Amino acid sequence: MTCRVVVLLSGRGSNFRAIAEAHLPIEIVAVISNRPQAAGLDYARQRGIQTVALDHTQHTDREAFDELLADEIERHRPDLVVLAGYMRILGTAFIARFADRLLNIHPSLLPMFPGLNTHERALEEGVKIHGCTVHFVTPQLDHGPIVIQAAVPVRGDDTPDTLAARVLAQEHRIYPQAVRWFAEGRLVKNHGRVNLRDDPASQSVLFPGA
Ligand code: GAR
Repeated sequence: MTCRVVVLLSGRGSNFRAIAEAHLPIEIVAVISNRPQAAGLDYARQRGIQTVALDHTQHTDREAFDELLADEIERHRPDLVVLAGYMRILGTAFIARFADRLLNIHPSLLPMFPGLNTHERALEEGVKIHGCTVHFVTPQLDHGPIVIQAAVPVRGDDTPDTLAARVLAQEHRIYPQAVRWFAEGRLVKNHGRVNLRDDPASQSVLFPGA
């Protein structure tokens, strides 16, 4: 059976696009955004994927909004919910409803630099290696079991923008890979670690083409 995927995004949607174009054994059944003007929704419409805009600014109660969002997601009967640049914190009740089928991508090598402005903070700290992480979502922000990471070198002349671009190119590689593994049923969780069935070695990507 094809894995039914619902994508949540807030903006550009380049990770969604990378997933949509990767010829994965999935069906993207809906793309939902909290921002009606998100460019990612336009791309979804171009591909004939159902889109839903749920404008969070029209809702003052955060929990009620989360519940509305969760009900909308469930209407599409997803096997997997993919956060692809979804820039709102999700509450505990929401996360519990989708436990074990909720993936996120974060632009840092977690557990370093959870939260916002990761590239600026990486440069301020002077780290020499930076990167991105796909992980299962748990109530602790940017902290769930890690599925795959990619590392890139930090250059002496990097700005937040040049570093973001180098990281983003890797996001576009590792997110489709993680979704493929999920769809193939290859991700095995064990005491907070995620291993790959039949292949314990390949969940890190080191400086690929960087
Ligand atoms: C990506 O860099 C993603 O890692 C980040 O937002 C960007 C979305 O880009 N997500 C987060 O910071 C979540 N904490 P996109 O809309 O082009 O995929």
